[in-house]
Amino acid sequence: MKRGMCIRASRFSARRLHLRPVTTHHHLSDLHAALRPGVFDLGLGHPDPALLPLDAIQRASAQAIARYGAHALGYGYATGPGPLADWLRHRIAQREGRLPDADEIAITGGISHALDQLVTLCTQPGDVALVESPTYHLAVRILRDRPLKLIAIPGGPDGLDVDALSELIGALKRQGERPSLLYCVPTFNNPTGLCWRDEVRRAVVALAERERILIVEDDAYRELAYDGDAPPSLWRIAPMGVVARLGSFSKSLAPGMRVGWITAGRDLIARVRTCGVMDSGGGPNQFATMTVAAYCEDGAFEPQVARFVETYRARRDALMRALATHLPAGWQAPTPAGGFFVWVRLPAGLSSEALLPVAEAEGVSFVPGRRFFCDGRGGNEALRLAFTLYPPAQLEEAAVRLAQAMRRCC
Ligand SMILES: Cc1ncc(COP(=O)(O)O)c(C=O)c1O
Repeated sequence: MKRGMCIRASRFSARRLHLRPVTTHHHLSDLHAALRPGVFDLGLGHPDPALLPLDAIQRASAQAIARYGAHALGYGYATGPGPLADWLRHRIAQREGRLPDADEIAITGGISHALDQLVTLCTQPGDVALVESPTYHLAVRILRDRPLKLIAIPGGPDGLDVDALSELIGALKRQGERPSLLYCVPTFNNPTGLCWRDEVRRAVVALAERERILIVEDDAYRELAYDGDAPPSLWRIAPMGVVARLGSFSKSLAPGMRVGWITAGRDLIARVRTCGVMDSGGGPNQFATMTVAAYCEDGAFEPQVARFVETYRARRDALMRALATHLPAGWQAPTPAGGFFVWVRLPAGLSSEALLPVAEAEGVSFVPGRRFFCDGRGGNEALRLAFTLYPPAQLEEAAVRLAQAMRRCC
């Protein structure tokens, strides 16, 4: 794709994006995003395709065959290939100071797959799923595929309001409801980019333990830390069995690999290992997981993460500078210390949904804030911008266009 060319996948849930021009073939046609020349789409939470490690993955896939032979192409072990699980266990121990036992980790087909699986295994029809708000809107879609009642839990700049959460859980239980899980993104949140404070982490873990609620911690962005280390995961600080932490190679390697992992209590991992899907199909994405295993074992992971971090940090800084230079007064956006996104609060009276068509006419797009609230009650004064897909000069041009749209709406 030429730089400056903009992309548009299915509106806001751009999961079908394929950015490299490939030979035209009608079976591939639904892999291609419609191109929208002239629009910078800062709504897309995607890596820059120019940064994806094509050569290293090509080498690793050959290595996977050379090293593991027919195992690379067979049905996989239910909790994923040992080489990848072992590499991950030791890296987690080194980075987080807690070594998951071999029966406390499972390889997954990415966070989306793992979330779907956990919801299948850990909830019953009619259960309440507590959902941090704002939160990753497509996780909400996964939760909505089940007959669950979703309840939004307001998050602030420091994390969840633990007292309000505690009261709500009490009230739900008194009404005979069964709150069975809490879905949250405590580190470099999508959409806000913010991290929960340490006290909030500990208080939420203690509350969940007391109330016997499974915390599903979506840890997609842990590797992309731009200003020092990421805070400890909830899984790191919780007693065994309280947290299922979902990790992914989507942001630290490539989303097309469809490989991630769960660290959780051994009872839950045993349920994952023995569930029907694994019994029938074996571990997810065997060849991709073997390829990722070879890639990681050969030392390719850390340099690639460093490349993402360096590039995205510069893009974050460029976008923040451009917003400060060009947007009309009255907006606010905390600088995210990691992840993909900046959460912009608009000047009073300006609605992001009203702004969107005007912005698109100016040649810039974003995701309106309301989409990140599972009850639809919030976010109209905010919008999410991704800074990963475009280089600094184009981010600046996007900010100029956004500013122009805001002036037209005021
Ligand atoms: C918070 C969050 N969780 C999960 C995902 C998707 O993860 P995966 O590609 O591993 O399914 C994303 C991708 O945008 C995300 O932002």
